Amino acid sequence: MQITESDVEHDNGHVDLLILGAGWTSTFLIPLLKHEKIKFAATTTDGRDGTIRFRFDPGSSDPTQFNALPRTETALITFPLIGQGQAKHLVRMYESTHTNKPHFIQLGATSIWKAPTWQDESSLYDSADPRAIAEDELMTCSHGSVLNLAGLYGGSRQPRDWVDRVVKSKADLKGKGALHVVHGEDVARAIVALHRNFTPGKRWLISDMHVYDWWDLVQDWAIQIAKSGDGQVDSPVSKVQRQEQLLTWVGELMIEEGIRALPRDTPSLGRVLDGRGFWRQMGIWPIQGRIR
Ligand SMILES: NC(=O)c1ccc[n+]([C@@H]2O[C@H](COP(=O)([O-])OP(=O)(O)OC[C@H]3O[C@@H](n4cnc5c(N)ncnc54)[C@H](OP(=O)(O)O)[C@@H]3O)[C@@H](O)[C@H]2O)c1
Repeated sequence: MQITESDVEHDNGHVDLLILGAGWTSTFLIPLLKHEKIKFAATTTDGRDGTIRFRFDPGSSDPTQFNALPRTETALITFPLIGQGQAKHLVRMYESTHTNKPHFIQLGATSIWKAPTWQDESSLYDSADPRAIAEDELMTCSHGSVLNLAGLYGGSRQPRDWVDRVVKSKADLKGKGALHVVHGEDVARAIVALHRNFTPGKRWLISDMHVYDWWDLVQDWAIQIAKSGDGQVDSPVSKVQRQEQLLTWVGELMIEEGIRALPRDTPSLGRVLDGRGFWRQMGIWPIQGRIR
């Protein structure tokens, strides 16, 4: 997405929100920022499409790249920071090259919550996870806030396209419990809400507030794909056979595991995420749900 001078409207080099890493999330965030007339700037590692060229190198103390970044009220870090030291270094480099201390927001993942039961933002997480270590450091050193995101979807990223990657065997499918996702539009809304109503030193769990059952989804999508392939001469036999195999696996697993109907009851899904807290705090609710 091309960013133009009029989008950015630097005010003496000052923006409201600086996106450090304008990747997939920004395809939803930038249109919202424009709509809300929030002044922004964005970086990519190669400076394409009107962005600022910036690649964070945790081993470098050269201020040149940081000098090129505008002063901002909120700095959104979309790329992963890993382990001890990186978050502190990034914050120090930014603050030593600017006259203000922005609110830092880091995007993370919900995979840090691992227990096979209900989890929300107050639940124990894997504090040894390299990303969680960096997130904790950001919250400590700059009172930053972290949005731990469920699976990202929207536009070209559709959950049904993930099946071939995650279910290669019946054993894979047997091991699949709950799926949690959040649409890019709601991620963008969450970022804007947090920019406006910042929560220092707080980690949030961001989902669309649904718990999806992988078996239920796989069965539904297999039926749809198999039907759409019916009568189409160019529909590959292997694709139809694959859907029939998935349907068989779901049926067999239901018998073997004593599951009477789909979707499965929540307790039999294991790890399930309660994503209500952030939306309640911000006074907004997801506008996307019920993946197809
Ligand atoms: N995929 C999922 O389902 C999922 C689920 C939960 C959380 N997440 C997390 O959510 C975050 C946002 O995801 P996304 O899909 O929007 O990410 P993305 O498309 O990979 O975007 C990341 C951006 O960061 C930039 N970048 C990468 N390394 C950098 C570095 N060292 N210094 C500066 N910039 C750097 C990239 O630049 P270039 O554009 O130049 O490459 C890109 O613009 C990620 O942290 C991801 O791990 C993803």
